[in-house]
Amino acid sequence: MNDTFLRACRGQKTEYTPVWLMRQAGRYLPEYQKVREKVDFLTLCKTPSLAAEVTIQPVDILKTDVAILFSDILIPVEAMGMKLEFSESKGPILYDPIRNDISVSRLRSIKPEEDVPFVMETIKILVGKLQVPLIGFSGAPFTLATYMIEGGSSKNFIATKRMMYQTPQLYAQLMEKITAVVIAYLQAQIDAGAHAVQIFDSWAGVLSPLDFERYALPYVKQLIASLRGDVPVIYFAFNAGSMLGLVKQSGAQVVGLDWRITLVDALGALGSDVAVQGNLDPCILFGTKELIKERVAGILKGASGAKGHIFNLGHGILPETPVENAIALVDAVHELSSR
Ligand code: CP3
Repeated sequence: MNDTFLRACRGQKTEYTPVWLMRQAGRYLPEYQKVREKVDFLTLCKTPSLAAEVTIQPVDILKTDVAILFSDILIPVEAMGMKLEFSESKGPILYDPIRNDISVSRLRSIKPEEDVPFVMETIKILVGKLQVPLIGFSGAPFTLATYMIEGGSSKNFIATKRMMYQTPQLYAQLMEKITAVVIAYLQAQIDAGAHAVQIFDSWAGVLSPLDFERYALPYVKQLIASLRGDVPVIYFAFNAGSMLGLVKQSGAQVVGLDWRITLVDALGALGSDVAVQGNLDPCILFGTKELIKERVAGILKGASGAKGHIFNLGHGILPETPVENAIALVDAVHELSSR
């Protein structure tokens, strides 16, 4: 197996910088669209043969150094008892959002092998087929809580913050339930063969540093400390470049970065005992191939002092992205980082 990615996570020497793209399996690929024509998104997530097929697509087409399980962060939330739907226009919808103690107490804990068996089946298929490592993933407790409390995506997160500030004990109860589910869910993915796991904290950046430290970080710390097995953990707190000192306290071996901070500044805040992942603005892929190469070179240079570096975008690849530019990006990383 090509273990360049795993070595970079551990801060060991690599022949070149490994690269993958968040949301690398998705709508920008005609091959993905073709599978999606036949099934809706949730069915795709729950059908191991198809989920494995679309997981492999970007590895074959872009030549990335890692695969990421095809699924969604809201899959375990549905298993906790909330009704989930994906609408083409509005994104995810969770019915009967969690707003009071009755709805918190109704949430189920999960047994991943029984409640979401398709996830572990997909991982087992992939581990048998892939020549590169497989990343399993979950939403971070705070990000999952925002979807559960708001009932979907949100602009100002008023319901979430109202619960935090007005009924902190209820908020804590909810977070403890979610954290227990995420621990079981990620551990089951590791036990099924995932070589690394990433925790997506997509909405961490809507919190002040004080609130992040009080209402999100303790649960991420507990989660990371609870995972067993020799697998790197990547913590990606989006839009949190102003609080990397706190992000580092999560205990993750790898910290994901978005494009709002230079790698040099990020390394200044993080120090040299964690590896970093990132951090090209996904919109650079709408520029020319020359521009892509120039920006890749800049990021590689900025990462030269890092314990380890995994090249990635600073957030998910966008559906409108030209495939040839995604290919050019992966090629540029491999070529320019070759040692
Ligand atoms: O990276 C990969 O290739 C693995 C697959 C993956 C998906 N979602 C597939 C998906 C991963 C890692 C996720 C994580 C996810 N899901 C996050 C965290 C990352 C981030 O973007 O911040 C979040 C917040 C979600 C919740 C979610 N799922 C939203 C808000 C949406 C709608 C927006 C959109 O992009 O359509 C989804 C749907 C979704 N998840 C799609 C895919 C491929 C599109 C569904 C389709 O095919 O129509």
